[in-house]
Amino acid sequence: MSQFPPLVEPLSGDPLSPSPDGTQLVNEAQTAWIPVRHGIPRFVHDDHLDSFGLQWTTYDVAHDEEDRKTFQAKTGISLPELAGKQILDAGCGGGRYCKVVSEAGGIVTGVDHTRAVDKALKLCAGLPNVRLIQGDLKHLPFAPESFDFVFSIGVMHHDADTKTVFDSVAKFVKPGGRYSVWLYRRNQAWQEWINNRLRARTTKMDPKQLEPWCKFGATLGGIPVIKQTLNKVVNFSAHPDYENRVCDTFDWYAPQYQYHHTEEELLSWFKEAGFTDLKVLPPEKSGKVYRWAYRNNLLIGSGVNVTGIRG
Ligand SMILES: C[S@@+](CC[C@H](N)C(=O)[O-])C[C@H]1O[C@@H](n2cnc3c(N)ncnc32)[C@H](O)[C@@H]1O
Repeated sequence: MSQFPPLVEPLSGDPLSPSPDGTQLVNEAQTAWIPVRHGIPRFVHDDHLDSFGLQWTTYDVAHDEEDRKTFQAKTGISLPELAGKQILDAGCGGGRYCKVVSEAGGIVTGVDHTRAVDKALKLCAGLPNVRLIQGDLKHLPFAPESFDFVFSIGVMHHDADTKTVFDSVAKFVKPGGRYSVWLYRRNQAWQEWINNRLRARTTKMDPKQLEPWCKFGATLGGIPVIKQTLNKVVNFSAHPDYENRVCDTFDWYAPQYQYHHTEEELLSWFKEAGFTDLKVLPPEKSGKVYRWAYRNNLLIGSGVNVTGIRG
């Protein structure tokens, strides 16, 4: 028997099992056939999230030590708590947090809408506790309440309606299980205005046109004075690694949807969905000036981050 929660057809809930030749999953009535490529069931195509498929299969941005720290900061969970737990990485992208969780002994299912799962497969090669699925978080192929811990980092705001995704994923947390969600934070109105004007253009660009701009942003993000001032007006990444800066900047300007939210909004979603013990997680970075700018919603690309327990 598989160590992971069984897969079902998302709409009917019918159990799925491998076809005799192993190239598909099929329900008993043989009315649903799900292709399996490179061992990954493919419930959906990249569709409106295509830029992520490209981004994650183009850039190498995983850094073990940094990813472990970020994971703990953005989920409120320490690594020793993961051992033996059933965990869902909702929107796993290139799989950096699936790797962190698996190496800590968690049994992790990573779901992403795009071919980013192929990158995740490479990154997690040889790790026995990882399963990957190309699927839509709004129509997940599991029975409700399948996971002890569900986390989603920087994902749900990229769909047409963030809350619909939040609610759909919440159902898969077991009673007593934990749910941690990180979303983009709403900035000051003037920053939102500039960003919306810019993204109205960049989201229409071909990736080949957009990438040189991202490389330009990544260069600016390496210049100390500029990265601490100009990127409060126009977003570009200030990550220490150049390739991460290009990737992060592309990640900001390419996706079709990008919604920004407030802490109050996210807290209210957790409450409505029946979660208790809610905790607003602080940003990873500290420092007086940083925290002041964060509290005043001046940091573009920063987050709102909540964790809670399902009642
Ligand atoms: C910014 S990336 C974050 C990836 C990963 N969590 C990380 O931090 O490295 C957002 C990812 O969410 C995925 N995504 C967005 N909406 C989704 C949905 N409805 N179903 C599945 N994946 C989705 C995208 O394809 C993309 O790979």
